[in-house]
Amino acid sequence: MFDFTYYAPTKVVFGRGGEAKAGQLAAAAGATKALVCYGGGSVVRSGVLDRVLASLDEAGVAHAELGGAQPNPRLSLVYEGIEKARAEGVDFLLAVGGGSVIDTAKAIAYGLANEGDVWDFYLKKRTPEACLPVGVVLTIAAAGSEMSNSSVISNEDTQEKRSCNNDLARPRFAIMNPELTMTLPDYQTACGNTDIMMHTMERYFTQGGNMELTDGIAEALLRTVRDNALILVEHPDDYDARAEVMWASSVSHNGLTGCGNDGGDFVSHNLEHQMGALYDVAHGAGLAAVWGSWARYVMDGCLDRFVKYAVNVWGVDASGKTDEEIALAGIEATEDFYRKIGMPTNMRELGIEPTDEEIDRMVQMVMDTNPKGRGSAKHLYADDFRAIYQMAR
Ligand code: NZQ
Ligand code: ZN
Repeated sequence: MFDFTYYAPTKVVFGRGGEAKAGQLAAAAGATKALVCYGGGSVVRSGVLDRVLASLDEAGVAHAELGGAQPNPRLSLVYEGIEKARAEGVDFLLAVGGGSVIDTAKAIAYGLANEGDVWDFYLKKRTPEACLPVGVVLTIAAAGSEMSNSSVISNEDTQEKRSCNNDLARPRFAIMNPELTMTLPDYQTACGNTDIMMHTMERYFTQGGNMELTDGIAEALLRTVRDNALILVEHPDDYDARAEVMWASSVSHNGLTGCGNDGGDFVSHNLEHQMGALYDVAHGAGLAAVWGSWARYVMDGCLDRFVKYAVNVWGVDASGKTDEEIALAGIEATEDFYRKIGMPTNMRELGIEPTDEEIDRMVQMVMDTNPKGRGSAKHLYADDFRAIYQMAR
């Protein structure tokens, strides 16, 4: 078991009607004027934004607005937000949306609290020294940004998608009302559920002594999200199923399912982020498209974990099978599940067909972010990343 630091400072307010508390929570966090960030308009259409603004008014927190955060959120909007927030004298960021909105708010919060170009932090040229406080009203169970230390931004000029991971950006509070997720398109619900599971799987397939308690939490989370994702395919208005996956979204990416493990593998995420940068695909679907190829490629380096996963999560009957056969059955069960919820299992099904040159470009981008290679299930380098992309094509 590895030593670890667990830090989850976000206050979680969970349940129906929670968005009405946004004002009082922001005021308690010291907000006098908030920049309310949102996406392409779902929160306008659903009325959530109006309820949040009314709650800010009631609590005496002034506000300005910044809409337009897109999936794979763009750096240009971050710059625009920093300028607007400076002009408006904002001292708090309130994200009303999903990972793309929250990550935009975090990036603006870095930009306001530090000198120089905020993109430097994403290029790892500098480390942020401060961050304005961020609060969240979550509208999709997916990225886990509502409790994570991470912000992922795409630079549309250079086609780079990069993350900045720093505890300074962990949100002060996260309001999670499962009802708000009922307006999601089915595809986005499925993408979200895939990403939630992947955040735990990235931490599960690691080497070097794992922690029994962490494994138990991880396996329970994976079974719970699987079961409720299937319920949501048939019954998207099932409150309890929405609630289960919404809390799982946070628990899966706030560090809990990594305690005592080897820091996480995160190769699938690295491979997907380049696909998001070049083809603007939905993050969860991109993960589903590469995971099976990654898993088959690294399986022999981490066989005991794949066997445990197959048996404890997917109920694979181990009798009469070799470890390789058990592990493969677990991978196949995962892919069957992806198909059932409408997710792709390769890039063609995702709707992209990268050429060899484009694959080389994505490999180079993975190496730029990970000059010493990446991975814990199996440590991989450029040729391995290329092979996995080719398998997933
Ligand atoms: O923009 P609007 O109109 O709101 O529509 C969004 C968007 O089209 C829609 N949506 C969200 N809530 C809705 C809704 N539509 C109807 N009703 C609602 N209640 O869903 C679409 C996707 O939204 P987005 O915020 O992009 O989703 P998600 O939370 O999956 O975020 C994805 C981004 O987060 C990054 C991903 O790479 C991607 O850029 N990630 C961030 C992480 C982090 N900060 O910790 C970790 C993740 O691994 C991930 O990399
Ligand atoms: Zn993710």
